[in-house]
Amino acid sequence: MTPCPELRRLAGEHARWRAEVAGFGGADAPAFAERLLDLWDEEILAHCRGEEDVLLPELAGRISEADAAIVFTLGDHVVLRRLARELRAADGPARAAAAENLARKLEEHAAFEERTLFPVLQETLGCVRLAELAGELAGRERSAGGRRAR
Ligand SMILES: [Fe+2]
Repeated sequence: MTPCPELRRLAGEHARWRAEVAGFGGADAPAFAERLLDLWDEEILAHCRGEEDVLLPELAGRISEADAAIVFTLGDHVVLRRLARELRAADGPARAAAAENLARKLEEHAAFEERTLFPVLQETLGCVRLAELAGELAGRERSAGGRRAR
């Protein structure tokens, strides 16, 4: 199945985070943690909020809000917020471990969305509806503080 353009755009954001996080690899542990938190604050949190404010409610209009795709996505977003909070609060060696935990979970979450959530969105909403939602989604990402959201 060829992904809808709007889902390709979201997957492109995931790919950019992956590339950025991979690029942080040369940084020392404190710098890695700082750059990861900046990426979280400026971009990833806004992306999660766009999904929560627009895509998941649209999906819940067509399938049960108790569907695993919705519940798992929201649960993962809570875990990401928890890991970001833990990273912000951590010092010393615990901070390096917390940064690794957040980076690993981000990778896992992006892979889950691309493999499971995005196909459900495409099958359930269709590319036309997803294209109609693109402006609203970008607006939510912008108002949530997305650094590069259009
Ligand atoms: Fe997400």
